[in-house]
Amino acid sequence: MSIESEQDLQSLLRIGKIVGLTLQEMQKSVRPGMTTGELDQIGAAFLKSHGARSAPPMVYGFPGTACISVNDEAAHGIPGDRVIGAGDLVKIDVTAELDGYYADAAVTVAVPPVSPLRSRLVACAKAALEKGILAAQAGKPINAIGRTVELEVQHRKFSVIRELCGHGVGRTIHEEPRVIPSYYSPQFSQRLTEGLVLAIEPHISAKAAHIQDSVDGWTLKTNNGTPVANYEHTVVVTKGKPLVITAI
Ligand code: CO
Repeated sequence: MSIESEQDLQSLLRIGKIVGLTLQEMQKSVRPGMTTGELDQIGAAFLKSHGARSAPPMVYGFPGTACISVNDEAAHGIPGDRVIGAGDLVKIDVTAELDGYYADAAVTVAVPPVSPLRSRLVACAKAALEKGILAAQAGKPINAIGRTVELEVQHRKFSVIRELCGHGVGRTIHEEPRVIPSYYSPQFSQRLTEGLVLAIEPHISAKAAHIQDSVDGWTLKTNNGTPVANYEHTVVVTKGKPLVITAI
């Protein structure tokens, strides 16, 4: 969507804040020995207490509240019996709706003690998102985002998972622009406009990797077992620094 009124902005800010707080609540609850299903319940209760609804089950019939993806699971992991262990990279992705407005964000929780490589991978994903967000400016092309993300990731000797991309968001979970790559591609030259709402979400792997076909119909794993880190924010494009609506 594109923000067209103060009401649009205020409504989006409300759900953005709830998504950010839900992630914070889930992040601080992660313990070795707990299942991803238990972690999901914490998110479900938090969203409910704020009157918000999780979007993936509502829009796509996803069997969970948050997507919880561990280690080589890059995205769309189903919360369940999987036990979280020391050293795991737990990606929590929450998309939720309130009053017809949607926000989407994700964090990676590294469960201590974490290997130095995995720590660097998490730091890389975080930095890549922060820099990518700064490239999302009115007048610039969409591929300025991917170019910036890719440069940061290459500099840190990691790899972008090309199949997983950002997207427009706001009135539902996935909107125009449908694909915001985390790498440079000349075809994505459409100019960003003021007020456009985007979810930016680089998925970074420790070694070059692609996504393999899902066995359970949802979970997207790397084809070579390499771990993945991911951060995501929903932002509003402006003439200057974007407004990060899922920041808390
Ligand atoms: Co997203």
